[in-house]
Amino acid sequence: PAAAHALDNGLALTPPMGWNSWNKYACKGINEGVVRETADAMASNGMKDAGYQYVIIDDCWQTGRDAEGNIIVDKEKFPNGIKAVADYVHSKGLKFGIYTDAGTKTCGGRPGSLGHEYQDARQYAAWGVDYLKEDWCNTVPGQNSEASYTVMRDALKASGRPILFSICEWGSTKPWLWAGPIGNMWRATGDIQDCWDCKKSWGGNGVVQILDLMNGIESYAGPGHWNDPDMLEVGNGGLTTTENRAHFSMWALLAAPLLAGNDIEHMSADTKEILLNKEVIAIDQDTLGAQGLPAKKDGAIEVWTKKLADGSTAVGLFNRGDTTTLISGSWAAINVKGTTVRDLWAHSDHHADEGYSYAVPKHGAVLLRVK
Ligand code: GLA
Repeated sequence: PAAAHALDNGLALTPPMGWNSWNKYACKGINEGVVRETADAMASNGMKDAGYQYVIIDDCWQTGRDAEGNIIVDKEKFPNGIKAVADYVHSKGLKFGIYTDAGTKTCGGRPGSLGHEYQDARQYAAWGVDYLKEDWCNTVPGQNSEASYTVMRDALKASGRPILFSICEWGSTKPWLWAGPIGNMWRATGDIQDCWDCKKSWGGNGVVQILDLMNGIESYAGPGHWNDPDMLEVGNGGLTTTENRAHFSMWALLAAPLLAGNDIEHMSADTKEILLNKEVIAIDQDTLGAQGLPAKKDGAIEVWTKKLADGSTAVGLFNRGDTTTLISGSWAAINVKGTTVRDLWAHSDHHADEGYSYAVPKHGAVLLRVK
């Protein structure tokens, strides 16, 4: 399939990085204090320097519309309004994002943007919004996803402010086929759950289900337009440290947007070490913008590769199974050329003319950069 043309707004030339409130705080827990504390922490704990940029409020910041149709902010959660929060985030050298829905109501039952797209986009621009996620709940019968997201794209453009556009229709109408010229990223799967292997009947997915859903759509990703496997669950408690490392490694191989979804102010040393691994982040942020894919699958074992701009290759040795397994093979069999190997979690170099051989723990991943 032909690669989609990218939305021409100059944004997201590498996968967007930042934090989104949903995975940890959902509807109930989000408020101005959380956003301020998260921005403070990101600006001072190394995340900003590592590339995390957007601080994004997900659902439940809005309550209704006034007589003119202007969106009304939830004053209990955001007593000083949204502009004050955006200004604060900007004062920390970070960017600010917000959430809406293409239907009449958001997934959390707050007002959606249907019929108010231009009005809302103007409001976002006036507040200083830099990133908009638009969801797909409570649409009206017959509502078309491509047409709906095109309206909001045009509204954002007309607002005059560069606003990264994140499409969130969960892969339900194959957005990779049409969203390239409309959004900077689009969810390709149902909502991530904080678990390794846990498909839900309503469409929620564990880490391994999402990885499978991402196979086959690689050609549609590239600078300015990314397949989105959903936000990170690293540090939210449902995954072991090994699983969190594997989750982060695989998202980097996918050239996924890296949106942390945990409590940034109070994260553990392990979580911090994972989210701040600059060598892994560099795989995700590689300027070539290629989405990695499995070069080899053998039962619970997968060997993934991702081409990088300097001619080297990222290689992921991924063990979905329940026992530590030796993963080995030749470079040639996975179409990789190179002899100098950097282990991106051990932070060590070695020489390997023929190939690789690593004992990979249960639900673990080894991530290599091969030159
Ligand atoms: C949907 C989205 C989630 C989140 C919630 C908010 O489920 O896919 O990422 O935004 O709505 O209600």
